[in-house]
Amino acid sequence: MIDLNRLGGLVAKTICREPRLGNPTPRMAETEAGIIQSIGLPGKGIKYFLDHIVPEYAKFKPPLIVSCSSESPEDFAELARELSVPDVDVVECNISCPTRNTSGGNFALDTEHTKNVVGMIRAATDKPLWAKLSPSAGDIVAVALAAQEAGADALCIANTFLSLKIRTDNFRPALGNKFGGMVSPALKPIVLRMVYQVAKEVSIPIIGIGGVTKAEDVVEYMLAGASAVGIGYAGFRNPTALTAIIDDLEAWCIERGIDKVSDLIGAVRDDDMEMDTLAAASVGV
Ligand SMILES: Cc1cc2nc3c(=O)[nH]c(=O)nc-3n(C[C@H](O)[C@H](O)[C@H](O)COP(=O)(O)O)c2cc1C
Repeated sequence: MIDLNRLGGLVAKTICREPRLGNPTPRMAETEAGIIQSIGLPGKGIKYFLDHIVPEYAKFKPPLIVSCSSESPEDFAELARELSVPDVDVVECNISCPTRNTSGGNFALDTEHTKNVVGMIRAATDKPLWAKLSPSAGDIVAVALAAQEAGADALCIANTFLSLKIRTDNFRPALGNKFGGMVSPALKPIVLRMVYQVAKEVSIPIIGIGGVTKAEDVVEYMLAGASAVGIGYAGFRNPTALTAIIDDLEAWCIERGIDKVSDLIGAVRDDDMEMDTLAAASVGV
């Protein structure tokens, strides 16, 4: 349906070591403003992935970003090592699976767990290493700094928001796994705020992910400090959205005489504005 070669990169579904069936169904439910889902990282395991999936991606030009996940830092590092084959361009550690706990896969809720697991993965691979952070972290700036300190080359902000839907017809949670990750354009302002805050503190690139449905969303993320964006949900609603956004972004830049889209990175005009959010909130009180 779309020319995949036009995309900046291809992110494969998170891969785990062993084959996994995924979570009990239903795995997805609609809400008034987006979906909640708990897929449970189903997959055929690393061997199948390397033998069959990577060669399929290699047929396309964009770099392949391989997302991986594990419940133990040791296995995570070993997984990253084994995935570091020539046709893989980037290893993305999904340390933010929303339905896991801090020591078992959702390391990005906590700075120490993040530093530990990213440091171990860093030591195991020479590939560019991206760390995908959690929007549920209490202090995402501290977690981002921990990932940078541990050797991450870029940060993906962010994964989905832990959420719950209860059916009013049978009083049961709507998802088979009870909790799920929320995905919605309504979440974009929250993730945008996180990208903005993190970009002020880190020196490595940020990939903004969450609620991008149109070219202006990409512009907003870049103005906030992102170097690129990731898109998931918009492609579910309309598979041609990805290339349409690229076309619209190009037109948007040309109309405004912006030669390079990268000129937008961190270009938000806020120098004259109050940086301390608490002080800003109390103005006029
Ligand atoms: C059905 C579904 C499956 C997902 N699976 C993964 C995954 O395997 N690994 C991951 O890091 N994020 C996963 N995500 C999260 C997305 O990568 C992305 O962070 C999130 O959906 C927000 O971006 P969006 O608003 O453009 O969809 C998944 C999201 C959805 C909706």
